[in-house]
Amino acid sequence: MKIIVDSKEKLNKLAAEMIAGHVSEKPDCAVAFAAGNTPVGVYEELANMQNVDFSKCEAFNICEYEHLAADDERSCANQLKAQLYSKLGITKIHTPTAENAEGFDAEIASCGGLEMILLGIGTNGHIGFNEPATLFATETHVAQLTDKTKQMKAEHFGGSENVPDTAVTMGLKTICSAKNVILMAFGEEKAEIVHKLVYGKTSTYVPAAMLQMHMNMTLMLDPEAASKLD
Ligand code: GLP
Repeated sequence: MKIIVDSKEKLNKLAAEMIAGHVSEKPDCAVAFAAGNTPVGVYEELANMQNVDFSKCEAFNICEYEHLAADDERSCANQLKAQLYSKLGITKIHTPTAENAEGFDAEIASCGGLEMILLGIGTNGHIGFNEPATLFATETHVAQLTDKTKQMKAEHFGGSENVPDTAVTMGLKTICSAKNVILMAFGEEKAEIVHKLVYGKTSTYVPAAMLQMHMNMTLMLDPEAASKLD
């Protein structure tokens, strides 16, 4: 695992350059994007890039809440569309749903597999919506959200009681199959889970710790998120 500690601004630029580099080399490659607060700065950087054509890129949303209306601004798909896809002219967008979950990994494979995945991390170690105790061998599936995750998302939904109970997510196997992984974490509230990600046992207790075994994994941290690392 490569760990880079730097300012948010520099990391946003670096992650955007890495993604753009892959798309420049292989314009029709498949890239998976996380929703949430963490990658917003990366999406701004990508949106400002004039010299890379993203129009042939196959964009995969990593996860989606269940039971939200198609036009609900709080959905991952609508967030990514507003912040990224509409700005870059990306039209080949793949969103996991309960209906297509079973075939979603095959859909990824038919696009050549994920060239790159950009991840955030939940304070309980979830990636996508793979909560603690998710088995490593999981492909895209419907997942039950934990109370901790619902609390983490309470602000976004105007109260944890409004956060859906379930979501569809790429599985840990799906995520770990990506050729290149970037995981970003910012802020003091992520410091403890980042410590577990880096030093913890690779058990299902901390799903993100599975990424310790990935050959091309880059962990990007601001000084606050890195503050518990030695
Ligand atoms: C969620 C999402 C993830 C996201 C993570 C961190 O629950 N399913 O895709 O990376 O939480 O969110 P944030 O970046 O807002 O801290």
